[in-house]
Amino acid sequence: MKVLFATSELAPWVKTGGLGDVAGSLPAALRAQDVDVRVLVPAYPALAQAFPDAVEVARPHWLGGLLPTPGLKQAVTPDGTPLLLLDYPHYFDRTGNPYLGPEGRDWLDNHLRFGLLSRVAAWIGSDASTLDWQPDVIHCNDWQTGLAPAYLRYLPGRLAKSLLTVHNLAFQGLFDHASLFELGLPDASWHLDGVEYHGYLSFLKAGLQQADAISTVSPSYAREIQTDAEGMGMAGLLRHRAARLSGILNGIDTQAWNPATDPHLPNHYGPRRLEAKAANKAGLQVEVGLDLRDDLPLLAVVSRLTEQKGLDLLLQIAPRVLELPAQLVILGSGDHAMERAFASMAHRHPGQCAVRIGFDEGFAHRIEAGADIFLMPSRFEPCGLNQMYSLRYGTPPVVRATGGLADTVVDAADEKHGNGFVFGPATAAALLDAVQRAATAWRDPALWRRLQKRGMARDSSWASAARHYVDLYRAL
Ligand code: ADP
Ligand code: GLC
Repeated sequence: MKVLFATSELAPWVKTGGLGDVAGSLPAALRAQDVDVRVLVPAYPALAQAFPDAVEVARPHWLGGLLPTPGLKQAVTPDGTPLLLLDYPHYFDRTGNPYLGPEGRDWLDNHLRFGLLSRVAAWIGSDASTLDWQPDVIHCNDWQTGLAPAYLRYLPGRLAKSLLTVHNLAFQGLFDHASLFELGLPDASWHLDGVEYHGYLSFLKAGLQQADAISTVSPSYAREIQTDAEGMGMAGLLRHRAARLSGILNGIDTQAWNPATDPHLPNHYGPRRLEAKAANKAGLQVEVGLDLRDDLPLLAVVSRLTEQKGLDLLLQIAPRVLELPAQLVILGSGDHAMERAFASMAHRHPGQCAVRIGFDEGFAHRIEAGADIFLMPSRFEPCGLNQMYSLRYGTPPVVRATGGLADTVVDAADEKHGNGFVFGPATAAALLDAVQRAATAWRDPALWRRLQKRGMARDSSWASAARHYVDLYRAL
């Protein structure tokens, strides 16, 4: 089985969220199931620098519209995964976030940048390809590669089948009508059953419409997105394609996220050496300037700061949470108003609340290890990885019952399976209630140990998800 895994992010080199983590760890798990997988990803500066010896293996040309002729360079990651780097410096030799310019706004040519990525994925899956490797399946991820199934459908010479995995339905890749021509798509594709969506070209809709199969990253989210309330305008289409839609729960990279070996941690620990977690808490308190208190629960957030993550609810109850009493540490970036609100909260509560605005991988690991309780009050969450990192790090999470959070966290009220705290309504009151329950449980060491150990024992590896993907590829 040969699979091209097409992605716009790849951890540890380029990551804005969970898609980067998934692309950085699922391919190795697929290889362990004997899938011959290659990862197609733009040669952003971080990747070009990481693989200076990458060799050009093809130059896809005549791609249509205004699309240029890029290079394809081959490299191999340290874990042995073959990469195809899409080399077109004019599009991808830009530092920072892969989607946003320095002003924090989308690059104006994103339709061409990710249109090229999609088009080259389709080229590799067509008989125009000059590569000596022919994939059976193109595995696309989110809107950035969502156009590949449409190219496979509308252009001649198709050989590969396509699977589109939805990591987040909220990002749809909407562009104006003129981009149809720039992207080299035929007029016939401008249709309700094609790539058109309410007068716009939608990369995501195009993929949902044309892919041979659709998956999303948890069973609950696969159900939720078929409802009008949570389908983000795509529910009708997804219901129509329900027979082709499945939910496969993400795994995590259990090597990168292992408290017993994590190179970012000052003190290693495991389920049988949980005492050593306390030293990480003290280290974290010192690192962020919190009072050195082992008698207060330390609550933590690592997140994109967006509407999705429900952190406005946390802002509303933060004073009450600090009065519990408790400490709070937050790492995140995104919405500027929310960044300012969190920063000013930290300013008002020195020693008790610390906020760092930015993206910092090592710090994220130290928070997972040093905190007592992790907070994820998401309004919606296709899968969520941080709650799984928290479980593995003995840091029971407080989550809203949605998407992958509902599929991974069991409320402590379940005395046999409980590993965290789950609340229902997306309200400040419901979040506060769950946080209070967590803080109370934290004061009961025997109960807390049981919760921690159950979470740490959960199998979050990729093996089972990889088997599901292999079944899907076979069915295609
Ligand atoms: P999403 O993909 O919606 O952002 P996930 O929970 O699936 O949510 O994945 C988020 C990933 O990004 C996790 O690996 C998390 O640790 C990481 N992350 C998010 N914000 C930051 C940040 N400010 N600094 C470091 N890592 C972050
Ligand atoms: C998205 C989702 C997140 C998921 C991640 C990886 O960014 O928001 O819930 O875990 O993709 O699939």
